[in-house]
Amino acid sequence: MKKYWILCPFILFLLNSCLSISNNTLTSPNRCIRVNVDLNTEGQPFYLVKYKGKTVIDTSMLGFDLGGDASNFSAFKVVKTSHSMRRNEPWELPWGEQRVVEDNFNGLTVLLKEEAAPYRKLFLEFKVFNDGLGFRYIFPDQSNLEEMVILDENTEFNLTGDHRVWWIPGDWDIYEHLYKNTRFSEINALDYAVLSGLAQTYIPENAVNTPLTMKTDDGLYLSFHEANLTNYAGMTLKIDNKNYKMINELVGNDKGIKAIVKTPFATPWRTIQIVEQAGDLIESNLILNLNPSAKFDISWFKPTKYMGIWWDMHIGTRTWDYKSGRHGATTEYAKKYIDFCAENGIGALLVEGWNTGWERWFGDFDREGVFDFVTPYPDYDLEEVVAYGKSKGVEIIMHHETSAAPRTYEQQLDTAYALMNKLGISAVKTGYVGKIIPKGEYHHGQWMVNHYRKVLQTAARAHIAVNAHEPIKDTGIRRTYPNAISREGLRGQEFNAWSPDGGNPPNHLPIVAFTRMLAGPIDYTPGIFNIKLTPYKDYNQVNTTLAQQLALYVVIYSPIQMLPDLIENYEGHPAFQFIRDVAVDWEETRVLDGEIGKFVTIARKERGTDNWFLGSISNEDERRISIECNFLDRGKKYTAVIYSDGKNAHWDDNPTDYQIDTVTVYHRSNISLNLAPGGGCAISFRRSN
Ligand code: NOJ
Ligand code: CA
Repeated sequence: MKKYWILCPFILFLLNSCLSISNNTLTSPNRCIRVNVDLNTEGQPFYLVKYKGKTVIDTSMLGFDLGGDASNFSAFKVVKTSHSMRRNEPWELPWGEQRVVEDNFNGLTVLLKEEAAPYRKLFLEFKVFNDGLGFRYIFPDQSNLEEMVILDENTEFNLTGDHRVWWIPGDWDIYEHLYKNTRFSEINALDYAVLSGLAQTYIPENAVNTPLTMKTDDGLYLSFHEANLTNYAGMTLKIDNKNYKMINELVGNDKGIKAIVKTPFATPWRTIQIVEQAGDLIESNLILNLNPSAKFDISWFKPTKYMGIWWDMHIGTRTWDYKSGRHGATTEYAKKYIDFCAENGIGALLVEGWNTGWERWFGDFDREGVFDFVTPYPDYDLEEVVAYGKSKGVEIIMHHETSAAPRTYEQQLDTAYALMNKLGISAVKTGYVGKIIPKGEYHHGQWMVNHYRKVLQTAARAHIAVNAHEPIKDTGIRRTYPNAISREGLRGQEFNAWSPDGGNPPNHLPIVAFTRMLAGPIDYTPGIFNIKLTPYKDYNQVNTTLAQQLALYVVIYSPIQMLPDLIENYEGHPAFQFIRDVAVDWEETRVLDGEIGKFVTIARKERGTDNWFLGSISNEDERRISIECNFLDRGKKYTAVIYSDGKNAHWDDNPTDYQIDTVTVYHRSNISLNLAPGGGCAISFRRSN
């Protein structure tokens, strides 16, 4: 008996240490991902991530630098850890890449408390899904920590190798950059050649923006981003090339402050996607799942295709400003577009340059009060255009270019949205070209994050959907605010019209699909048919084939898809049929194949019908793809209309060589075809039994 008493403390010690390890460890539901959360010997928290037993994120510290009267956090102790083992709780997207979203994770929350005064408390919350993890800091309500001046959030991501990385610089003002693909050790954002034509750009550190996607030499894909960016600053990742380490570098302001928050407060989730197939990054719902569920019903918004009085301005045939004599937004021109939309089943028309202010746009970049959001130019009868559109079933999309003067916009929000309500207009495209006024604030800092949110909230109350250009990055907030329908936040099609570097190269979109698109819907505006822009531009063109322009309607997701080209380029064009047919709202999405920067093939099933659509795009290389049609229903027959590159197609030499073939296919069918250099293919599958 005595012997056992002697052994007891030892057994207890063993039990305890096991308990503390399992308490601080969390695995994904399929057990492939394992996360460890703990304190180091100085009482500072860290985490570590393994995938199938191999470390993918090595010991990475968590913490903050605080300003104001607050001292930095001293040593913590663990007060409590609690696990939440969840079964799958699917939920529905009102519009999206799919209808039903699986939400399958295990969770761990660790409560920390400083060991010495002022005994501040902090929760670390982790959720681990089968395709990655998210974690955030939660500061509970506490008298000894009411306001926090955050000088830095020091969250680390400590990589385990010199991975291949697709990156854009950690610009505080704009995401409109071309991606570079280098080894981690070669990232040099400070040397990134910023396009001279960009009105706004500020890259203070060797940092990169998110979503940041990587491939390890073991063939694993990692992508770093954030979810639910609310009342906080956007995250960029500062690069430590030698140690393969990244540290959160929040976007700040010229006062040296990153964020000021009041407790209770939760930071955005820091997310790490970890998958074995590149396409699984696109299929992942991790970011959406880390956002709160919808705050309101959005049945008043219907996904739609839209045209625009827009491309004209970018290729220089018309202007926003009405005094030029080539004003785009005239009553007459708008009616011509409305007629064409109505004839082709296109639900909406964006009209830019309708309101006063454009004549001062470029000259008065530093000034507030340039734009007026209620007064049309004299040659544009807003009410008549809207009524004409209504009579033909075409809604006008409002345009509010703020010229990066958010205070001017906020002053007019109520009146501008009241006007839209009066006219029955339910969508607005916003824009923030230029340096933010007041000076010292940046597009991606906390002040602007709050502005973009205020716009969304005010718009939601007025039943208005928002498509933001020069936006804050998407962090899945469309789940909570489903009126956040789309946004830019990348080099869009417009660069092909005027960019002095010749536009977006053929590998741009095969990279975007695995980087920017992981954040959410993109208003890329695909569908230019006059690829060479003849006779308007002699130095620029769209750097893809025509078939790829069609494929983009499926590959690049947005619930509003533009038909940007001029009417004369679509009228009577056989390939236009695909754009008429293609859906904009999806029941299901499957990424059939793809490799970052090379190619991607995506099939999507239309909501409410049995039809599928497929898009495949290639970079500058020609390739043969083989499409297994096993996504189609068994035992059913489909008519597939295949729009593919012609035999001699090439994005530069011969971009408009295309062919259309109609074939019957089944679940067991296989379609093999060639994608030209910079090419693509688009297929509509219509079920016929
Ligand atoms: C930049 C936007 O991306 C573009 O779509 C718009 O036409 C101009 N700003 C003018 O607002
Ligand atoms: Ca833009």
